[in-house]
Amino acid sequence: MRALTVVPGKAGSVEVSEVDSPVAGEGELLVDGVALGVCGTDHDIVGGEHGAAPPGADRLVLGHESLGRVREAPQGSGFAPGDLVVGVVRRPDPEPCGACAHGEFDACRNGRFTERGIKELHGYGSQQWTVAADYAVRLDPDLEEVGVLLEPASIVAKAWEQIERIGGRSWFEPQRLLVTGAGPIGLLAALLGVQRGLEVHVLDQIEEGAKPELVAGLDATYHTDDISDVASEIRPDVIIEATGAGPLIMEAITNNAAFGVVCLTGISSAGPKVTVDAGSLNREIVLENDAFFGSVNANLRHYELAARALSWADRSWLAGMITRRLPLERAHEAFTAEGDDVKVVIDL
Ligand code: BGC
Repeated sequence: MRALTVVPGKAGSVEVSEVDSPVAGEGELLVDGVALGVCGTDHDIVGGEHGAAPPGADRLVLGHESLGRVREAPQGSGFAPGDLVVGVVRRPDPEPCGACAHGEFDACRNGRFTERGIKELHGYGSQQWTVAADYAVRLDPDLEEVGVLLEPASIVAKAWEQIERIGGRSWFEPQRLLVTGAGPIGLLAALLGVQRGLEVHVLDQIEEGAKPELVAGLDATYHTDDISDVASEIRPDVIIEATGAGPLIMEAITNNAAFGVVCLTGISSAGPKVTVDAGSLNREIVLENDAFFGSVNANLRHYELAARALSWADRSWLAGMITRRLPLERAHEAFTAEGDDVKVVIDL
């Protein structure tokens, strides 16, 4: 069978390779790959900046935004042939640390976790794959076209859960949400904000095309102005930062409402440097009881929350997020960004 593989650390090594078909071990499902979503992390791995192959292997099967159909399921696993499934990305560290021991592997403390398609475990970018039934999530059968969005939605479902827990420090009835960045994470964060009844604003640099249309499709407001102008006008109670752009992060932190919660989800590369007036920042955060925090990955609870959020969402709006689909043979084209891309998907 064929799989999308890469030599981690070696830019330009991505290719469609012939690999052995997987055999399901005890407690595992054998799954026919349906589709694979591509995200910024995959771009970083293909660019040689991130990722690690399994011990003893040169190449890593890429892909962590999965969607497949169960071919074989063990008795009593709760799954049956034909079920639409998504595989969870992260596995607990072997020790395990306290968080991993409690199923909260998304908050692993010692960093020795592994991740399918990213860190030391083969991913889901192959025509067949296996997954432990305990790390598979079933999707509504009618989500086949958009089910590949479950993994990014799980990232956002976790971010929202954490925002609400942090808000729960005191009275918290947020009214306005500002999302920075109208990529897949930003748009899904906006969707979950709309589902919570918030007034939603999304900021991006792109002036036309799928991004503003998708935001309008949520009855949210799209902005391309300077973040400080937008934020000081709307005074958001919650900001979800989904660009990883350093200067934007600082603006987000200084322009929110009192008791504001700022959730950072973008993974930045180093630089550019911004000068920070640490005294003013400290004053702002303390005197307004602000909180800002980072959020990465998702555990099984967040996948379940995300599956519910997707099943409540308008299918055609979700389908509109997938702006490009490629067959596996042309998968390498996914790593050349095109202007209007939101989510690029590879059909397996
Ligand atoms: C994935 C996460 C993962 C992170 C860091 C993201 O793209 O969605 O599951 O934890 O990359 O590897």
